[in-house]
Parts: sequence; structure tokens; C-alpha cells
Amino acid sequence: MTGTPLIELVDLAAAYGQVQALKPTSLTVAEGEFVTVLGPNGAGKSTMLRAAMRLTPASGRVRFRGRDITRLSTHGRAREGIILVQEGRGLFGQMSVRENLILGAYTIAAGESVEARLEEVFRLFPRLKERFGQTASSLSGGEQQMLAIGRALMAKPKLLMLDEPSLGLAPRVAAEILDTLGTLNRDGLGILLVEQKAPQALRLAKRVYVLSLGGIVAELAASEVGSHHDLSRFYLH
Ligand SMILES: Nc1ncnc2c1ncn2[C@@H]1O[C@H](COP(=O)(O)OP(=O)(O)O)[C@@H](O)[C@H]1O
Ligand SMILES: [Mg+2]
Repeated sequence: MTGTPLIELVDLAAAYGQVQALKPTSLTVAEGEFVTVLGPNGAGKSTMLRAAMRLTPASGRVRFRGRDITRLSTHGRAREGIILVQEGRGLFGQMSVRENLILGAYTIAAGESVEARLEEVFRLFPRLKERFGQTASSLSGGEQQMLAIGRALMAKPKLLMLDEPSLGLAPRVAAEILDTLGTLNRDGLGILLVEQKAPQALRLAKRVYVLSLGGIVAELAASEVGSHHDLSRFYLH
């Protein structure tokens, strides 16, 4: 990593009973950096993101913008600017697109305009504007993922973490969503993206970590994955 650290996970570890789902793991995302974590099903990717957000009990430390936030609650971390788009999206199906988005704005500072945040989200995802009054459950899978990301952006995050956003989506739709993440990153947003397989995610990311059996087994520049025989065979095809 080069540049000022945005988030630093230091020996973060988590277990479910006897199952050590995440061994002590250290990972950093710099200010404005796009980092992808690749790993097969069961590797511990979701556990790592949930531990970073304190949605699951964990040992180790978390620093954000140079400050130790290990003792901060999930909500406190969100207020600092760390937002996780969870796998499964967690939308309120019977509520409208607009209502789901407004719920995402709960951590923004007083004086910040919710309307301005909505306009920003609609600029990135014009389809959400068209579907404004529809219920979340009536949206397509891709639109639901856009809504989940849009809701996260309502909080004006400094770091956006995403758990397999392309899961179950047609490649074209997944590409559209990942392109938007690229746009957000070019505007300076730090991104930590977790995927099982992701040729597209590797085009966006500068650095890649590979997680396997609860531990990081490789850390490399995204451009190096293609020339790494085992990794490219596993993650690019
Ligand atoms: N709530 C849970 N209770 C018990 N074991 C779990 C739970 N969630 C995940 N695990 C186990 O922890 C390991 C890592 O899971 P997970 O973090 O979901 O991996 P990934 O997101 O990479 O697929 C797996 O062995 C999984 O079975
Ligand atoms: Mg997962």
C-alpha cells in the first residue's frame, strides 16, 4: 500500500463457536484506494467484513483514518464513514425505493441535505429515479443491488465495503454496477470489494488480497494476477 491509510485491520480474527472463520488477518485500504478481496465460498470474506463493522465479535484492532476505533460500535463506525453493503442486500422489501434510500441517510451530519444526497444517488443510478415510488421487492436483482449501494451512499461514506455485489446478477448488469464503483472511486471514495471471482473487479482494483480457509494467502498488485498461473486460472475464468 502507498498513501495515507484509510482503514487498517490489524490481526482481526473471528470465530463461531469452535469454528475459526477468520484467522488473525491484517489488511489496509489507503485513502482513495480500490482494494479487492478474492476467495472461494467459505473463505471468511463475509466474516472479515462483518468483523470490521463489529457485526460479529472479533479480536484484533481496527484503525480508521489513523484513529483506533476498535471500541466503537457498529453505529459508531458507520458515523465515522464506514458503510457495508451486505450480501443479500438487506432492503426493506415493502418500502419504496425512496424510503429505502432515506433510511440510509441516518448517519449524515445535521445540515447535510437528504435531497442533495438523493440527487447524487440518482445521478449515479438513473434507474432508481425512474423506480422512485416502487417497492424494493418489485425491482430486478440488479436494481436491488443498485438500491443497496445507493442506500449506502446516502450516508456519504468515506469507505464503502461491498460483499459480493455481483452475486446472482447477469454479467452485463454486474459490469454496470462495478463500473459505477469505478466512478465513485475516481471521485475519491475508498472501496473494499469482496468477490468470489471477478475479472472486472480486478480491472478496477489497484491491489488484491486472496483469502482462503480464513487467512490471507496472497497480496499482490491487481495487474499481477493475470501472470500468476494458479490465481488467474482460479479467479479469472
Ligand atoms: N453464523 C455462522 N455460524 C457458524 N459458522 C459460520 C457462520 N457464518 C459463517 N460460518 C462459517 O465460517 C466460515 C467462513 O464463512 P464466511 O465468512 O461466510 O465465508 P465467505 O463469505 O468467504 O463465503 C465458513 O466455514 C462458514 O461455514
Ligand atoms: Mg460471504
